[in-house]
Amino acid sequence: MPDLPAPALDPTTLDLFDRPDAAGPSPRAAALMAPVPGLDAGLVHEARPGYGDPPAPFYASPDDSLRLYQADALDLLRRMRDESVDMIFADPPYFLSNGGITCVGGRMVKVDKGGWDKSAGITGDHNFNLLWLDQCRRILRPNGTLWVTGTSHNIHSVGYGLQVLDYKILNDIAWYKINPPPNLACRYFTHATETILWAAKSAKSRHTFNYPLMKEQNGGKQMESLWQIPPPCASEKRHGKHPTQKPEALLMRIVAATTNQDELVLDPFCGSATTGVACARLGRRFIGIDREQEFLALSVKRLADEL
Ligand SMILES: C[S@@+](CC[C@H](N)C(=O)[O-])C[C@H]1O[C@@H](n2cnc3c(N)ncnc32)[C@H](O)[C@@H]1O
Repeated sequence: MPDLPAPALDPTTLDLFDRPDAAGPSPRAAALMAPVPGLDAGLVHEARPGYGDPPAPFYASPDDSLRLYQADALDLLRRMRDESVDMIFADPPYFLSNGGITCVGGRMVKVDKGGWDKSAGITGDHNFNLLWLDQCRRILRPNGTLWVTGTSHNIHSVGYGLQVLDYKILNDIAWYKINPPPNLACRYFTHATETILWAAKSAKSRHTFNYPLMKEQNGGKQMESLWQIPPPCASEKRHGKHPTQKPEALLMRIVAATTNQDELVLDPFCGSATTGVACARLGRRFIGIDREQEFLALSVKRLADEL
């Protein structure tokens, strides 16, 4: 029997926050989370009752196809209804702002993307990854997929989390960032790539992959998992800068390859809403979440530019 199409969401209301309480972690995620002595990394392990009214968006486009929320991602994910989102792109904290050095514009500077990027220790960081990955899996539709970016600081925890939570990893993309900053210590190879994991909700998922389009975009040859895409150019930062902004070309490829017209894309750590920009251009609906008002204000300018 063919799969029934997923029930349509009301596109005018995007009524996603219908939980009377907040979803707790699945028994599997709860069992996997190790206690962190003396550390409450701000993680809530239990379901909490009585959330009340749906949260108000920080911004909604005139046709309500693009929305931004100012919130802690975990808090908001826990309020979203089961199986309501077609694709999730997550560019989470990599936890790399811990006193190291890097090179910006030829100068040696401390790596400091912001307080949100500081590590809570290996176990605290891994618990955090398990919690949000678990919620993402709950709210993904059965055939939905999740993308997660990272470097060695977070990607092994994320990859292990995907495996133990029963996602099916489909690809690990190596994003080659042409012209990376030089390695100042001269004791390592220059860090020139980021990893982007693409996973289906489960082994049974019949995930979307717009293969002919990707082949066409690659000059008639199958597109490989090594992507050469330069960092964002100046015009992508014309409304202001986000310290870890992703290139629009990267998100255009991801959204075009793995979603269809009008589908709903969620970015729980949206920053300057590069994912939303790609969704606006490609006719997908978008929900972005970020804790920082400054980044959401930048996102609003970028999204309004696309309308
Ligand atoms: C790596 S950046 C995302 C950049 C984005 N992809 C872009 O192109 O601009 C991660 C973002 O997550 C936000 N963030 C970190 N922890 C968060 C949390 N617990 N809940 C919501 N947002 C969070 C930060 O404010 C930051 O803007």
